[in-house]
Amino acid sequence: MSEVAVIGAGYVGLTTAACLASLGHSVTCADVDEQRVRALAKGEVPILEEGLPALVADGLGAGRLRFVVGAAPAARDAEFVFLCVQTPQSETGAADLSAVEAVVREVAPVLRPGTVVVNKSTMPVGSTQLVARELSQAGAANDVGVASNPEFLREGNAVRDFLQPSRVVIGCDDAAVAVRVSELYREIQAPILVTDPASAEMIKYASNAFLATKISFINAIANLCEAVNADVREVALGMGYDPRIGFEFLHPGPGYGGSCFPKDTAALNHTAEAAGYDFSLLRGVVEVNRRQHERIIEKLRDAAGGSLEGVTVGVWGLTFKANTDDLRDSPALVVCEQLLAGGAVVQAYDPVAGEAAAAQYPDLQVVSDSYEAAAGAQLLALLTEWDEFRWLDFARVAAGMSAPRALVDARNLLDPSAMRRRGFAYQGVGR
Ligand code: UDX
Repeated sequence: MSEVAVIGAGYVGLTTAACLASLGHSVTCADVDEQRVRALAKGEVPILEEGLPALVADGLGAGRLRFVVGAAPAARDAEFVFLCVQTPQSETGAADLSAVEAVVREVAPVLRPGTVVVNKSTMPVGSTQLVARELSQAGAANDVGVASNPEFLREGNAVRDFLQPSRVVIGCDDAAVAVRVSELYREIQAPILVTDPASAEMIKYASNAFLATKISFINAIANLCEAVNADVREVALGMGYDPRIGFEFLHPGPGYGGSCFPKDTAALNHTAEAAGYDFSLLRGVVEVNRRQHERIIEKLRDAAGGSLEGVTVGVWGLTFKANTDDLRDSPALVVCEQLLAGGAVVQAYDPVAGEAAAAQYPDLQVVSDSYEAAAGAQLLALLTEWDEFRWLDFARVAAGMSAPRALVDARNLLDPSAMRRRGFAYQGVGR
């Protein structure tokens, strides 16, 4: 068992803290937000993440997990200090490391000799060296170690992804430090890849950029399928049987969103530019994604006869994907914004994030269920693949709508022929 401090109680920090405590470590999780810390100390988990509330309760109950305000109190007695603060996108596209630097300056003077600082937040190549430099400038003991240990958590699946990862990556120039960090994961059954810091940092960006590339690729193929009358679902199936391709991340849709892919592809493009490498492929991935949002809007505008002015559109789903309450960089909200800008009335329903969306978008008429969203609407847009949208009474939905009862299924969640039998002018993506 080790004494671990986790700085930052967001998605990554909270999951990391609760999971490390469940592995038997003694964990102090710190955040600057006093209200958040007070709630967490009572076991109230402010994010929708399967299994996390139970893990937090277990950790609190067993005395292995505690929450404090401020990084220094948490770091003071720790052997390991995990940096899990936000690294948002800056105007240039580069990752903004100001929160990381502030924490480093705060903890440096209190770190015990031999402590290891672990970069868990997504940070550009070279950040391990940067953190080491800043620690020594801020007065940290000479033998404080620094390692990169990127996370690969998917929102909505974070606890499973942490406890059953496909790999654990540790980037560190000091082999002894790398071994100490790997020991934290000894209860986890997964390959542990120990490499140099730059490669570890690049593994994170390259993995996300590759997944984003796969999504933009299948979206591009979907658009081509529409032009040549092929069915992208059949195509993805035929591709996926090849183990070199695989079935995962071949679902076309409104484009990728969320707090990671848009930010990490921008940051990697920025790193490439700064390094003088013309990463045209990745710029293409980002451009296809941007265009994909627009394609959904075009489908809706066409279904409305060319203008959205005064048209009522029912929207199903606002989060960037199903099973999360996260609206960050959600393609669904990009589509809603464009619909509103086009003069449409937008009646939107989301199983978990309606209230939060209404707070951000006052023009959005957020309603309390799928039927209300469809009531009186000429068009319906399914934008997030919540499972509940499969099991609706579609005769009732159709009866509540007005002509032309166009249904744009941006997630290919529904069966086209069944929808057409119900009287919907159904459109999917790539079929
Ligand atoms: C992602 C990575 O999966 C994870 O490993 C990393 O640590 C953080 O970023 P997350 O952002 O939670 O996780 O979402 P993910 O499930 O990867 O989906 C990202 C976006 O791609 C969503 O908007 C999703 O709807 C979209 N997507 C995903 C598709 O459009 N098609 C697919 O086949 C898969």
